[in-house]
Amino acid sequence: MPNLKIFAGSSNVNLAKDICAHLDIELSRLNINTFSNGNLSVGILDNVRDKDVFVIQSFSEPVNRNIIELFITMDALRSASAKRITAVIPYFSYSRSDKKDAPRISIAGRLMADLIKASGANRVLTMDLHSDAVHGFFSMPVDHLTAIPIIGEHIQQTVDLSSAVAVATDAGGAKRVGRFVNYLNIPMAIIDKRRINDVKVEQGLVVGNVKGCDAIIFDDEISTGGTLVATATTLAEAGVRKMIIGVTHPVLCGDAVNNVTKSKLDRVIVTDTVHVAKEKRFDNLTVLSVAPLFAEAIKRIHTGESVGELFK
Ligand code: R5P
Repeated sequence: MPNLKIFAGSSNVNLAKDICAHLDIELSRLNINTFSNGNLSVGILDNVRDKDVFVIQSFSEPVNRNIIELFITMDALRSASAKRITAVIPYFSYSRSDKKDAPRISIAGRLMADLIKASGANRVLTMDLHSDAVHGFFSMPVDHLTAIPIIGEHIQQTVDLSSAVAVATDAGGAKRVGRFVNYLNIPMAIIDKRRINDVKVEQGLVVGNVKGCDAIIFDDEISTGGTLVATATTLAEAGVRKMIIGVTHPVLCGDAVNNVTKSKLDRVIVTDTVHVAKEKRFDNLTVLSVAPLFAEAIKRIHTGESVGELFK
């Protein structure tokens, strides 16, 4: 695939290298420089004239720096005559800012979509957005992958599902968990949740039968771990036996590792959409790779094959 070029921002170089390994191509080279005043400059070191270019960058910490890095990289690629630019954003953090849920509040998810386009992207490839509606913020083609088959298959192979129930940590996650239970063919339950602030949530009623069951909690991300702490407490009080969590994006910010480890979950299964540093890896954590799926999607976008077929 001589006309395919893949570049990596700083957020998740390991994932970008793994994707390239699956495609059997070299990661293309760029140079990111930070000036003394904090400004960034990006130099593209390989020829991209008339090439189909993919830039891999997750919106993980430092979130705003990584976003600006992506914008400047795409702008440099456009100036260097790339034919088509796809922003590959395995984790799009601002998708949580998707509605007006307080007076005069920003909806940064939509703003980011506009800025991604303004920076030069012709299309976007992403995974497990916080809500499906965010897809509609973009006025360009978006391929929206899901980690459900990756996490679901691993759970099928390693967990006894005979008395399992999948649990949504809040009503907003019910659709996502609905797709997950379709994959695993198990019942589901939903917990009533209210977010008090960035780090604290409160939960109430559990809708569905969980008593005596093994709970497979499925969510889009672990950010501060506040949701998991509350969910573990709620489910323990409701009489579940084992608790296993499957989550696409291991953001693990602030006190998350401490929160998750003290929540007495039997297993935590995540993917590598966000790089998990060594010091954040704990005993019962499993990190599954999304690289084969992203590599296949990139190949299909490049060759004009269906990406939708990947979901069948
Ligand atoms: C919430 O609506 C999401 O689906 C996740 O449950 C949430 O983003 C996790 O955040 P935290 O770990 O900070 O509670």
